[in-house]
Amino acid sequence: MIISAPEDYRASARQTLPRFLFDYIDGGANSEVTLERNSCDLREIELRQRVLKGSLDIELSSQLWGQNLALPVILAPVGLTGMYAKRGETQAAKAAERIGIPYTLSTVSVCSIEEVSKAVSKPIWFQLYVLRDRAFMKDALERAMAFGIDTLVFTVDMPVPGSRYRDAHSGMSGPNAGLRRILQAVTHPNWAVSVGLFGQPHDLGNISAYRGKRTNLADYIGWLGENFDPEISWSDLQWIRDFWPGKLIIKGILDADDVEDAIALGADGLIVSNHGGRQLDGVSSSIRALPSVVKAVDGRARVIMDSGIRNGLDVVRALCLGADATMIGRSYIYALASDGQSGVENLMQLYKKEMQVAMTLIGAGSLSDLTPDKVRL
Ligand code: GLV
Repeated sequence: MIISAPEDYRASARQTLPRFLFDYIDGGANSEVTLERNSCDLREIELRQRVLKGSLDIELSSQLWGQNLALPVILAPVGLTGMYAKRGETQAAKAAERIGIPYTLSTVSVCSIEEVSKAVSKPIWFQLYVLRDRAFMKDALERAMAFGIDTLVFTVDMPVPGSRYRDAHSGMSGPNAGLRRILQAVTHPNWAVSVGLFGQPHDLGNISAYRGKRTNLADYIGWLGENFDPEISWSDLQWIRDFWPGKLIIKGILDADDVEDAIALGADGLIVSNHGGRQLDGVSSSIRALPSVVKAVDGRARVIMDSGIRNGLDVVRALCLGADATMIGRSYIYALASDGQSGVENLMQLYKKEMQVAMTLIGAGSLSDLTPDKVRL
């Protein structure tokens, strides 16, 4: 398959992956209205074409909490990444390191903090959910600290998992799920050999390390449901802030009215996100929520925009509307499933090229030129 645009990787991943995995990453909650809105609302933002204002070197690097980002893009935490490519989390982390951008490891990753950290030379970022088992949370944070991890992404928009109807249809869950997954695997032989066979163990690495026994894919959905804590409140988060000496980034803010609580907690950054349309269907797109969140934050924390970014133009749009950086999830998982580490590296080159062309054509020489006047809403 010819890959010329970032979005081409989606079709390629659809071919490569067993259906349950493609649908799990591709799908959203309920009728997928918010999933659709996330990218549609981004696409609708008009970029203003300005002429004869180009510059020779378009600079795309920036600083975020003292870290240098070669591009304003961060690889988001994605559960089960190691089911999408052989030891997928390590491949994605290596790609991020090669490009010079952060990689965020999910709590529910296949590869553990230790395995991924040993594969790269600089500390990754780590993501944690609000879980009932506080001892697990403490253990995971201590293990992250032991590898010099300094940036914690704390997800607050998943006190309960959203209703992902595609998963029951695809065999991720639902009747005869195990059998259906096996049938799908044997009809995708490249995946079956590379990931199914040689990508083992298919553990939830961080959870198995804590429980001292294997926690496999079949346990995944059950574990999420049992361990998420629907009663968590902002005051419960204080111990995380007290316990974690590094940067604390709150992921899942979609309403300006939640900003004050996050700032009062001492968050260093907020991630405007609706979890890629995977949680509450019907909520606003992230890009629509972004300007009001940026206004409410008023410079007191850094703001990252997540959910809906599919290409370099989307990154430009988000930065014009006030984001300091963007996070991508599905976009890089499609590339990882298609072509492993080099797929993710190529994807980022495509983003870079698109950003540079767009910035030349809107008359922006550097990221600081990406201001609201460069777009029309
Ligand atoms: C987990 O965070 C998911 O969205 O499935």
